Amino acid sequence: MDLSPGEIRVLGYLKRNQDRKTRESDIKIDDMNTREISSSVSWLETKGYVKTSRLTASTWKLGSEGTKYLEDGLPELRAIKLMIDQGSISLKDLSAKIGPDEMKIALAQLAKFGIRPSAGSLSAPPNGADVLSKIEERQSLLGKLKDGLSDFSLISDFRGRENVIQEIKSNERTVELTDMGLKLQLEQGQKDLLGEVTTEMLLSRSWQGKDFRKYDLNAHVEKTYTAYVHPLTSLIQKIRKIFLGMGFTEMPGHYIEYTGWNMDALFIPQDHPAREMQDTFYLKSDTKPEFEHPEILKSVARVHEKGVKSYPGWGYKFNMDEAHRLVLRTHTTVSTIRSLYENPEPPVAVFSVERVFRHESVDWKHLAELHQVEGAVYAKDANLSTLKGLMRHFYHELGFDDLDFIPSYYPYTEPSMDVVATFNGKEIELGGSGIFRPEVTIPAGLKYPVIAWGLGLERLAMFLYDLKDIRDIYNSDIEWLRHFQAKM
Ligand code: PHE
Repeated sequence: MDLSPGEIRVLGYLKRNQDRKTRESDIKIDDMNTREISSSVSWLETKGYVKTSRLTASTWKLGSEGTKYLEDGLPELRAIKLMIDQGSISLKDLSAKIGPDEMKIALAQLAKFGIRPSAGSLSAPPNGADVLSKIEERQSLLGKLKDGLSDFSLISDFRGRENVIQEIKSNERTVELTDMGLKLQLEQGQKDLLGEVTTEMLLSRSWQGKDFRKYDLNAHVEKTYTAYVHPLTSLIQKIRKIFLGMGFTEMPGHYIEYTGWNMDALFIPQDHPAREMQDTFYLKSDTKPEFEHPEILKSVARVHEKGVKSYPGWGYKFNMDEAHRLVLRTHTTVSTIRSLYENPEPPVAVFSVERVFRHESVDWKHLAELHQVEGAVYAKDANLSTLKGLMRHFYHELGFDDLDFIPSYYPYTEPSMDVVATFNGKEIELGGSGIFRPEVTIPAGLKYPVIAWGLGLERLAMFLYDLKDIRDIYNSDIEWLRHFQAKM
């Protein structure tokens, strides 16, 4: 394999250098910077001429307290000196002399020599001179550290005192010639092969008469990974395409909603358990955004209290304050009712793939922040068969053909159905669906049926990507991501 001029020079350096192992940082070559040297070493390694290994080493430097103690003396040193000078010292005096924080440190350190206060004062112990000399050694270590210390035997005295001395770990590469590298004869002249032509060379014509290095078509190239979209993003893109292909329009929405929209307009009773603090994130806010379309709340209140037509309502006194509480939206069906209210010209076919929030404890199957897929159609002739047909098409595009529709319950739809798919012999609950109740459509001024369905995106991803834990979608383990890309 051909060697570049840089590689030849690094090899030459290593051959001249008698050491078997050389620190990479010790390699000094004229006109080559450390990055160039390092890259040549890497190439030489992939070509088999050198072997590298990592050398971890520790050095120490003074921490912020260390710098202070270098001037003032270590607290334990100041304390023992006072004790020896005065025979004994009360903690009160000690604190006044060296400071309360320093006293605490001094007490902790002296305790390691068996020196402890009794009756509120410290007395010089019989072996005081001994302790003093040990602590003085410590103190002198601080001075040595400042000048760059090579003998680390005393460092253990400072274990656990990171503010006094700080360890700096370095991770260095060492380089060693392999047998192949040792055997390789660097031909005279090989060094003079030109690997590039610079402007200067062209101007001075110095390239003339020189030989050029050949292209090495077999040169080893390190594997690089290009960027791909994240699996969840790719699933979202796929779902968007399906809806757009069905002629649906993506609807806007808000992370923060009034309960008036998120719940009341959807005929969710004001005492519904899902409204409890343990299920929903309520927001504290002094400044509240304007409640858009406040007029709808009047008709919503009337329906909750008295019902509409032959539908009886909930029969309680509607609480307007409750409707004005802010929440992180708990589902995207809120975007459907809002969009239809704001654009009530049938036919309307809308969808969204958006984030919702639930006050859940997070575990292998639950997330507190997740995405919902939502689709809805408002049209004169929309009915249950339309809904089933749309869902069959939608889920077919996602790869599910064996579907069961199971009667279910949502406060805002009647009838309601859950969709269960059988896939590779396994059953998976895909999501909910139904036809909006008149208690929802009438106060919103909607004349025709609204059919709607929704599903959780992460649950779907978990199933499609065969994950055991829903959180793994967000862990973004690099091996998993690469493995996933390989399959795309
Ligand atoms: N909003 C329901 C959910 O959060 C799903 C759903 C959407 C149900 C539309 C009926 C109609 O699970």
